[in-house]
Amino acid sequence: MARIHEKPANSACAAAHSPALELHELHKGFDSAEGRVEVLRGVSLSLPRGTSMALTGESGSGKSTLLHIAAGLEQADGGRISLAGQDMTRASDAAQAQMRRGQVGLIFQQFNLIPSLTVGANLAFQARLAGCHDAGFTERLAARLGLDGLARRYPEQLSGGQQQRVAIGRCLAARPALVLADEPTGNLDEATGDAVLSLMLALTAEAGAALLLVTHSPRLAARCDGRLHLRKGRIEASP
Ligand SMILES: Nc1ncnc2c1ncn2[C@@H]1O[C@H](COP(=O)(O)OP(=O)(O)OP(=O)(O)O)[C@@H](O)[C@H]1O
Ligand SMILES: [Mg+2]
Repeated sequence: MARIHEKPANSACAAAHSPALELHELHKGFDSAEGRVEVLRGVSLSLPRGTSMALTGESGSGKSTLLHIAAGLEQADGGRISLAGQDMTRASDAAQAQMRRGQVGLIFQQFNLIPSLTVGANLAFQARLAGCHDAGFTERLAARLGLDGLARRYPEQLSGGQQQRVAIGRCLAARPALVLADEPTGNLDEATGDAVLSLMLALTAEAGAALLLVTHSPRLAARCDGRLHLRKGRIEASP
């Protein structure tokens, strides 16, 4: 099947040899009725470009919290986050927002498509926001994702697997250097989930993007290049 990338993924501005994502001694706690709960107690990890890393851990261990902090959706209490070599903790809010718009793609368990937009408009949405929409590229990506002929439908007219493939396409159309995916196949049956993960792994590898995949499934985790386990607020390497 034809490759979709005629030029290397994203950002000329990114430092070419820096890891896509580095977390250094991240701390995060939440106040609850029972007092403060320290969820992340010094989490460090480094995710090289072009590699896939699975992140597992019990429910409530802080996987989504870690992803949200990496994506800038939540603030850490302490620690350092670098995207493509750029220290987010030192950057201005505007610089952080610009970096994240251009460099980071998010995929969630609930596909989070925009219901009032067609598949075609959903696919282009993120790339338009990032100012790098390329109609030809998005069309080739849609074809690779098996979405040909669906561009004029609305999300509610698609199956779950099709919706998640649109969400993956929307993310990759903006050519992010880092894809953060939180249980992206959690709402899909096993066969559909396997197929969706295969596409995600192939397309992010082709794009030279790094993938951090939160999953409960050891079987899916085994398909990534590396595996990390979150336990008691810290990262353990897992086999
Ligand atoms: N906004 C919040 N306010 C208070 N507590 C929170 C908040 N967000 C998360 N938590 C708590 O932080 C802990 C970690 O939550 P998180 O959602 O990161 O876990 P998770 O590993 O993603 O779990 P799951 O596998 O069930 O998705 C949980 O105890 C949760 O209740
Ligand atoms: Mg979660």
